[in-house]
Amino acid sequence: MKRKLSIALLMAAMSLGATASEQDTRDLIALGALTFADNCRKCHQLDGYGEEALYPSLHDPKLLANKSLLIDTLLHGRSAPRRNGGEEDLMPPLEFLTDREIAAIIAFISNTWGDGVLLVSEEEIKAAR
Ligand code: HEC
Repeated sequence: MKRKLSIALLMAAMSLGATASEQDTRDLIALGALTFADNCRKCHQLDGYGEEALYPSLHDPKLLANKSLLIDTLLHGRSAPRRNGGEEDLMPPLEFLTDREIAAIIAFISNTWGDGVLLVSEEEIKAAR
């Protein structure tokens, strides 16, 4: 009982120790994970590896550090023809997502499969629309 209490106190102290901005980043990444599962999973898969020859893997730190390319791909999709052709293989624009959701997805994928979390402001996304 005493031990349980001290663990609870320790956890409370740890969460108090997190700065507001760390907590914001964690919240953003969590939103990104959910938004990714809803909007990207069917092509890139939950593990981000995609499907060979159809949907590219997102496990690419260089790509996940490229802010403008990510914003542009998410807002406008990809119209470049795939090697094997076929419109269904192109990436659709996801402009219906909110600025915060786009920022959250970028935070989630860069934190999970890149070299570190890439934070993009909602203003930067708005400006690219
Ligand atoms: C309908 C399937 C589909 C959905 C849904 C989809 N994508 Fe894609 N995505 C693709 C395809 C296909 C490509 C490659 C397009 C090309 O050939 O340039 C791609 C390319 C990308 C790229 C660029 C990869 C590179 O190497 O340049 C990123 C980043 C990306 N998608 C992220 C996402 C994210 C994040 C979501 C969800 C918000 C998403 N995609 C939703 C099919 C999809």
